[in-house]
This record gives sequence, C-alpha cells and structure tokens, in this order.
Amino acid sequence: MRVLIWIFAVLVIPNLAFTAGAAAPVEGRDGMVVSSVGPAAEAGHEILKQGGNAIDAAVATAFAAGVAHPFSSGIGGGGFILVRLANGETLAIDARELAPAAVTSTTFQDPNGRHDPRASRAGGRAVAVPGLVQGLESLHRRYGQLDWEDVLAPAIRMCEEGVEVGPFHQRLVGFVAKYLPPETAAIQLKDGKPPPLGWRLVQKDLARTYRTIALHGSRAMTQGPIAHAIVETVRESGGVMTLADLRGYELKERKALVGTYRDRYQVISMPPPSSGGVHLIEILNVLEAFDLKQMGVGSVDSIHLIAEAMKLAFADRAVFLGDPDFTAVPVERLTSKSYAAKLARRLKPVPFYRKPPWRWGRRRILHVDPPVPQVANDSGTTHLSAMDAEGNSVAITQTINTPFGSGLTAKGTGIVLNNEMDDFATAPDAPNAFNLVGYGANRVEPRKRPLSSMTPTIVLRDGKPWLVVGSPMGPKIITAVLQAIINMIDHGMNAQDAVAAPRFHHQWKPDALELEAAFPQTIRDALIKMGHPVKESRFGIGAAQVIEVDLERGVIYGGADPRRASRAVGYSIQD
Ligand code: GLY
Repeated sequence: MRVLIWIFAVLVIPNLAFTAGAAAPVEGRDGMVVSSVGPAAEAGHEILKQGGNAIDAAVATAFAAGVAHPFSSGIGGGGFILVRLANGETLAIDARELAPAAVTSTTFQDPNGRHDPRASRAGGRAVAVPGLVQGLESLHRRYGQLDWEDVLAPAIRMCEEGVEVGPFHQRLVGFVAKYLPPETAAIQLKDGKPPPLGWRLVQKDLARTYRTIALHGSRAMTQGPIAHAIVETVRESGGVMTLADLRGYELKERKALVGTYRDRYQVISMPPPSSGGVHLIEILNVLEAFDLKQMGVGSVDSIHLIAEAMKLAFADRAVFLGDPDFTAVPVERLTSKSYAAKLARRLKPVPFYRKPPWRWGRRRILHVDPPVPQVANDSGTTHLSAMDAEGNSVAITQTINTPFGSGLTAKGTGIVLNNEMDDFATAPDAPNAFNLVGYGANRVEPRKRPLSSMTPTIVLRDGKPWLVVGSPMGPKIITAVLQAIINMIDHGMNAQDAVAAPRFHHQWKPDALELEAAFPQTIRDALIKMGHPVKESRFGIGAAQVIEVDLERGVIYGGADPRRASRAVGYSIQD
C-alpha cells in the first residue's frame, strides 16, 4: 500500500475572526446536545425527544458522529466517557485503544533499525485495538433508558440514507483524498475525487456493521466476520494485530479526577491514560494564584502567564504521563495545590525558554529542542456534551487520531481503523503527529494504552452541575478546554462566547506560542517583544463544545464552537 503521508501536510482551515457576541447560546429547558459533528447532535436530540435520557442521547450522538464525519472518529477507534448522574454518581469509562500483544521495541523501526515515524501513522502497524463500541455499550447498559437498537437507529439511518457533505467535511476529505487506499477511497470519494458540496455520503457496509452491533453488541467487534475483517486488513498492511487482541480488549472503569478552582468550582475530568484531566487541573491550580479577570481576557499579561503555565504542564506530561497500568503516574502530586504553588513561583515576566534550563529548576531531561518543521493534522477526534432535564451529564471525546486514522477501512465493514499507536512515544524525544514528545512512561509496550490528551470534563458550581465541556484536536484539547473554562469562570462569558473567543496554545515542545488570527497585531508584537516565538495558528485551536446550566432559571445553554461544523441542539418538551 502506498504510504500515507498526509500527517505531514497542512490542513487549511481558515481562522475565524473573534466571534464573541456574534451568536447567542442555544437554549433548551429539558435537555441539550452539543457536538463538533453537527448532524450527530441532531441524532442525540431525536433520542431525547423519544424519551431517552442524556446517556441514550450521548450514545446515539457518538455512533452518529462516526457516520457523519468518518474521518474524525468512529467504531474503529476509542474514546473516554465521563458521566455524572443527577444523584452525584460519577464514572470515567476508559475505552482507549490498546497496543496489540505482539508489538515490540522494533515495531516502529525501518529495516535498518532507524525510527520510522510513518509506521505509527499509516497502515497496519499504526492500528491499535479499538474499544469505542465496548465503552458505549457499557455506558448504555449501566445508565441508558431506551433499547440499544433504538439508540443505534439514527446512525444506521444516516448510513443508509446518506449524510450531506458540508464545507468542513469536503475540505477534510479533499485534503487527504489522494492518499486514501482503495477500500477507503471507494466509500469516501465520488468517482475517485473529493465529493462536491451537498453530495450524500452513503455507507452501506457501515450500515450492515451497525446492524450487527445493534443485534450482538460489542461481541460483533471481537469475534465473527467483522473481527476477522479487521485483523485481515491490518495484517495485510503490515500490522501484528490478532483475533486474540480483539477478544482480549479490556474496558476500564476509572475514578474521575476532581480538582477545585477558585473555591466554588469543582472540576471533574479524565484520569490517565489521558493526560487531559491531570494537566487541566494542574494549570488551573497554577492560575488560581493570579487575578485573570483583572488582567483582562486576551491581554498580553494573561496570555504570557497562561502560556507559561501550559509549558510547565506539558513538560510534566512528556516526562510523567502514561498508561497507569504500566507506569506510576504521580497524579496526586501533579494535581496538588502545593505543587501548583511551587510552579506559580517559577512564573516570571520572561518566557522560560529565554533562560537556561538549569534556571527553571526542572529535571535535566527537559532540554530545549528546535521547533519541528511539521504540522499536525488535527481533525481525527470529536467531542460531544449531553445533558437531560434531570441533570444527568455526559461528556465523550472519541478519536481515530488523525483524519481517517491509519487510512485503512476494514474490508467490507465500512470501519475506518485508527492510527492511535502514534500517540505512544515511539522513540524518545521523537515528535508524534501532534509534535508531542515523550519518554519511558509512554513507550510502546504490548497491551498498553497510548497516552491521550482527551479531556471530557464536567464542572460543578457550589456542588451542582454547571458545565459539560470538551474538545477535539490532540494536545490543543487541553488548552481549548482550559480557555473555555477560564472564559466562563474568570471572564463571565456565556457558553457561546466562551467557545468562540480566540485561543492560543503552547505545548512546551516545540517552543512555539501559537495564536489564532483574531488576536490583534499589537498583542502579537508585545508577546514577541517579551521573547515568545509567536506562530500563526493555521487550524484554529480545538473545537470546544460547552453546556451550561442555569439552575435558577431552569435553562440549559449550549455553545457550539464555530471552528468546526459543530451544533448545539436544545430540547424543550413543549416545542
Ligand atoms: N488521539 C489524540 C489523543 O488521544 O490525544
């Protein structure tokens, strides 16, 4: 198979102007679904109308997301599910993919023993054992109200009737079209070319697969013809996955992380193997020592301060984070207020790369690398937030990693297979598709989960559900979710303004402070003068999806990020 190289290319998503105030949040009295995949949010709404709860709506939205934007997520991948029920019960379901049992330290080397970054990004070696269906099934079994077949029905209908190709979809497919292998191209392209706007993408094979899942549940993914097709496709393309890997997939239920911010707010988020919750809480803990409101949103001082805090957290990510079943992740320390106080003391009016590393007081391993001339193609993930009238809340971030994942579609099934193996540190200090680096904690090992940045999060105010939030886009997930939360808590924005406001991102390595185009030149100039290597964001930063509850007024608000084809759909019984 032709080696897919689209990871290295540039996805041209125009930056959006600062649109705060341009649109009001969507309102609902009895429920809300917000998704970075617009038609999928409609599927969730349909389920609320049928009497489903937030869990049913979330499962329906998650399945539909993989149909409407098959380049962004799907049942050939994995995800993290965070639930908080109205009765206060909280659960984090880890449906992350895991490495096949036969991977070795040489799996991602070329025949000469040199590290081969392409091997973890395209083709069979890139594919990790999928877990999304197991995760959604477990969520639905525990807390769903409607029948399993009912929550799958909208997605099956979308497969059969087709979904209309919109501008975001067209741009994404256009970007990778020439690299798609035949099975994927035959489904996703029209006459071998990117589909025109308005074309209906019909996915007959995927419909058959979904019907089988509706009948047999997740067993359909681990045994029988679908499982055989996955293994055959992966192995024919150089991978090592076996049927035993699929059958042996182990879903994990984990204890959600809980942090606090500015006393009133409890931040509930995803524990490892995601780095999302740890670093969201770590950065918020650091920022608590500063008066962001007084600094002003988008001010030079606040961007500098927050970017420096991001850098410290991402340095910790590279060194300490990995699958907690394989490595001891110091979660308590990293999320403690005392550690944050130490970090806060390190923040100075000068960007820390301007000082020699020994002056940071950090481990020697944190040396400075030049920026990597590689642009991540960040659209292989989606997020949905759902809530019902009872206050049950669900946040799901699901992924196949980069657009169309490994590029492979399992023969005759319509399932696009992930390239999540690239989320491992396949070699020390070697940047992955998102330019993230890592070391031993996240090295490749059999049956291990690759480190993620996905950050499904629920925020309580005075102990009551207030926000459900998350975002797609690799490491920018963490910084997008962070900024959405700060915008609401510190700057008092509504849900829509909070997701639309311009964002910035720093991930420690490479040393680049990425700014969206909507920031004025004066801000850029001032940051450059301070010593920040400012870089223009070509993709936009994340696509945050927020639900906010106003308990006093009994209104649920939805904020859908305009950077993608996102949608917030409110549900009110009287409509
Ligand atoms: N695949 C992106 C992430 O999990 O962070």
